[in-house]
Amino acid sequence: MSVFYVPAVNLIGRGVVNEIGGHIKELGYKKALLVTDHFIASSDILTKVVAPLDAEGIDYVVFKDVEPNPTCKNVYDGLAVLKDNDCDFIISVGGGSPQDAASCISVMATNDVTPQELEGLHKSANKGLPVVAINTTAGTSAEITINYVITDEERKVKMVMVDKNSLALMSVNDPELMLSKPADLTAATGMDALTHAIEALVTPGAYDVTKKLSIGAIELIKEYLPRAVANGQDIEAREAMVNAIFLGGMAFNNAGLGYVHSMAHQLGAVYKLPHGVCCAMILPIVEKENAKRVPAAFRNVAKALGLHVEDKSDQECADYAIAEIEKLSETVGIPKKLTELDIKEEEFDFEYLSKNALIDACAPGNPFMPTLEETIAFYKELF
Ligand SMILES: [Fe+2]
Repeated sequence: MSVFYVPAVNLIGRGVVNEIGGHIKELGYKKALLVTDHFIASSDILTKVVAPLDAEGIDYVVFKDVEPNPTCKNVYDGLAVLKDNDCDFIISVGGGSPQDAASCISVMATNDVTPQELEGLHKSANKGLPVVAINTTAGTSAEITINYVITDEERKVKMVMVDKNSLALMSVNDPELMLSKPADLTAATGMDALTHAIEALVTPGAYDVTKKLSIGAIELIKEYLPRAVANGQDIEAREAMVNAIFLGGMAFNNAGLGYVHSMAHQLGAVYKLPHGVCCAMILPIVEKENAKRVPAAFRNVAKALGLHVEDKSDQECADYAIAEIEKLSETVGIPKKLTELDIKEEEFDFEYLSKNALIDACAPGNPFMPTLEETIAFYKELF
């Protein structure tokens, strides 16, 4: 038996943001804590989001202090604004960071817990405050998933929460909100989406429904991510990427992720690197090892990436898939080595990052559990 989580209402397509006011009015909510970041708060994205709220007389208070890797402080600050203003629901506007912060605020609003107590699997007792999750990047798929990540700034670790009580009530994926995203962000978030789809396809947690969703996501990303990176105004490519993250998000939300994410979380937490860049750099390293353990799983990956697999061996499929991942990464401009990001090998704390990767909540989803020594070796390949 498998449980499939997805928000109850999902708006997808060009211009759907204009319809949010009517949907929220129908649901009966009165005043939102609007969770976002400084960049979006000063851009025309916020104007596009609040116009339909104003038109329907829905009140909101803006909390714009979410940082790129949201911290416990961000969450507590947002929660205080929510309580001070008697908000009865949350609207999150952004990519992964505002979505993750909003998920944590939502659960803490209805459960008397600290963020640390929420780390792990389904740790809250009560359903979170309703969230309308408006996505602005393609993407983390955070607007449709039950996972979120909060950085414990004191311990310098990313805490992964998997909690059905954090699932948004409504997701909004409008490609028109993504047209202004710069090429490097488009590339990083797109490679994050590819990582989700691939990890969800090779994990033992995958089942027929999630496999089809992953395959669909990979096909779209391979074809449309380079176009979206080359020309941000390419609305057809942006729309295809929205469809890809919706498919891939549903896949990993229900099948799980793996060790690429476990390692990427640590790299992001210590060096404050974009999550998608960390995933893209680690993806071929971990998948090469996964392919040795579950080569048959890579037939689907290779097929989705364009290989005619019928007369090929499992190993040929795996080799092709990994070469295609590396090619796509290079095409969209992801760095190959950490030295390109001014990170020095002699200052890199291999043991600290590796130990935290081993206990990351995504690790059990991987086809095999690496040792500490193997994890250190994987990080060394980044230099
Ligand atoms: Fe991710």
